[in-house]
Amino acid sequence: LQFTVTERTDRVSEADRAKVLADPGFGNHFSDHMVRIEWDSEAGWHDAGVAAYGPFQLDPAAAVLHYAQEIFEGMKAYRHADGSVWTFRPEANAARFARSATRLALPVLPEEDFVQSLKELVAVDKAWVPEAGDGGEASLYLRPFMFASEAFLGVRPARKVTYAVIASPAGAYFGGDGVKAINLWISTDYARAGEGGTGGAKCGGNYASSLAGQLEGIAAGCDQAVFLDSSTHTYIEELGGMNLFLVYKDGRIVTPELTGSILEGVTRSSILELAKDLGLSPEERRIPIQEWKDAAESGELAEVFACGTAAVVTPVGELRWDGGSCDHRRDGHVDEVAGKIRSTLLDIQYGRVEDTHGWLTRL
Ligand code: COI
Repeated sequence: LQFTVTERTDRVSEADRAKVLADPGFGNHFSDHMVRIEWDSEAGWHDAGVAAYGPFQLDPAAAVLHYAQEIFEGMKAYRHADGSVWTFRPEANAARFARSATRLALPVLPEEDFVQSLKELVAVDKAWVPEAGDGGEASLYLRPFMFASEAFLGVRPARKVTYAVIASPAGAYFGGDGVKAINLWISTDYARAGEGGTGGAKCGGNYASSLAGQLEGIAAGCDQAVFLDSSTHTYIEELGGMNLFLVYKDGRIVTPELTGSILEGVTRSSILELAKDLGLSPEERRIPIQEWKDAAESGELAEVFACGTAAVVTPVGELRWDGGSCDHRRDGHVDEVAGKIRSTLLDIQYGRVEDTHGWLTRL
């Protein structure tokens, strides 16, 4: 696709941008431009362009507003010490976006157009990519998404679709200074996704589905909810916006295997690779929630952490449920392994060590 830059603007003054980049938070501020590409069933992909960031004009009958035919991705642009800007495994996100599109009956955007769209946006909004900063994880979060923009009320795949990319300078997802442990709530009333459903796709509906469980967790003083498999309520799936790893004292590092209802995180896959480099033994298998409680009790469990593009690697403290709780942090060590994985990952992403896996793409 040929992209045209139709409107170049400095929506935000340089001084205001500097203020935002110094303390970006997560998801509250947006760069000056956005990418947009249109699709219809006759012309295919067309009108690829970069324009000023701003609202969509959407017909009230646009299918996405009624039937949630929508998918998205989450990626980051990292500024290296020499000023160059890079992203991490974009082809993995492009492939997942294509799988999500197929599951949601949306058109597939070719990988090269997906990657090009990121390059086009970062080319005009490079000034929005922060330095790594104090917390060491500031970046420009990139959010590609696609939705049914055709106006009609029948239930069928839309014949008009819009793809867009917006960018948001980002610090730590869980805020605060330094890496703090989060507490998790086991949601038993709610599941995030079921067998044959859309759990393996990155679609907005899954995130909407996680919110009630998340609210339960917050009411119980937790930061996130852990969702279990919907049919037996016994196996760990994910947190709704992050994957989970359990680290055992004997060096095993275990994450739930992909069952179709769990999102295949790019950070998750990368950690499975990095774990081997760090001399750990990664395992993907079904993990009963009882195993977590028992291993915390017996002292075999060393650490638990959440991971994702937004969350990077975030240690978990307490696990709570209706009527109980457990905490594996007996010897006060929360994130020795998680910390090592986190810094290894960030060192690769910020170009501080050699990218031996070939994971970086220059934007
Ligand atoms: C990401 O990690 O990029 C996500 O899409 C999840 C969300 C918590 C922001």
